[in-house]
Amino acid sequence: MKPVRAAGLLATMLLVGCAVTVNDQALPGKNRVALWQSKLVIAHRGASGYLPEHTLAAKAMAYGQGAHFIEQDLVMSNDGHVVVLHDHYLDTVTNVRDVFPDRRRADGRYYVVDFTLAELRRLAVYERFKVSDGTRIAVFEQRFPLEKSSFRIATFAEEIELIQGLNQSTGRSVGIYPEIKSPAFHRREGKDISVAVLEVLKTYGYDERRDDVFLQCFDANELQRIRGELFPVMNMTVPLVQLIGTGPEFRAALTAEGMKSVASYADGIGPSMQLIVAPDSVAGNLKTTSLVQLAHDQGLVVHPYTFRRDLLPVYAEDYDALLEIFLNDIGVDGVFTDFPDLTVEYIESNL
Ligand code: G3P
Ligand code: CA
Repeated sequence: MKPVRAAGLLATMLLVGCAVTVNDQALPGKNRVALWQSKLVIAHRGASGYLPEHTLAAKAMAYGQGAHFIEQDLVMSNDGHVVVLHDHYLDTVTNVRDVFPDRRRADGRYYVVDFTLAELRRLAVYERFKVSDGTRIAVFEQRFPLEKSSFRIATFAEEIELIQGLNQSTGRSVGIYPEIKSPAFHRREGKDISVAVLEVLKTYGYDERRDDVFLQCFDANELQRIRGELFPVMNMTVPLVQLIGTGPEFRAALTAEGMKSVASYADGIGPSMQLIVAPDSVAGNLKTTSLVQLAHDQGLVVHPYTFRRDLLPVYAEDYDALLEIFLNDIGVDGVFTDFPDLTVEYIESNL
């Protein structure tokens, strides 16, 4: 058994109370390899190719598989807790419509911010699904089955305690990669999610640039507020990553001038992979953009999303080929992946 696979199995066993030892690996971390020097494996919502996204089980598995950083998408509850969920809605990953059928808004959605943490804890978390004729249909059919086992929503603090606990018990230094979701929406709901997230980070010792954290957001105005207003008053500074999607609102960031502007408040970018290689490229004839070079010219690290074995672009014949294009040929600095094990294995074998 390969070391990373053994580690994955062992860390998963931690959840059921087994005493284990896990291989120490060369990982980025405080006083060790600089954050900026490695090809980083960022577990996208955990080992979400194998277990329901953003559950503590998926995070423990990602840890055991050798991920260097583990991602947390963050939203807020009605009573001010920061919880780990991809959306500010509950209806695509939980049984909220069964438990609280009367709590949907006029648009038919169930909003996290309408529920207290105690209420959120009553919900079961499932593999991501769509609803068709009242029936849940898994988005990824081959992944963890719907409505099996038992998973719950975790707070940001609980997840940090899991990762820091594993760092202590294994001697490794795995980092966190939180994303502030929908700051404008939260503000309209009376919540300052950025302040809430920074308070949790500071409580758990993530407040300096050298700490094992990248803080990401799609909202450029919010990142500039964090850098210019919140960091000084909270006496903290951690690396910031500007996420870049494929929508028209991000077009300005894709130029040399735009990248220079991003570099004035951020330390890296997290672009959709489609902004680096056009999705209609064909194998052997890739349409590669200059985005990575523009970012590197400004000293920004580049961590594209999302690398999935079960959702490959047409130009990649398999998952390793996709990693080779981005990590080896183009030279990105890390990837968000649903499959940390395969990505660690590729990097250990090829780079
Ligand atoms: O944060 C990087 C990547 O996760 C962005 O996409 O929608 O999965 O949060 P999303
Ligand atoms: Ca994210």
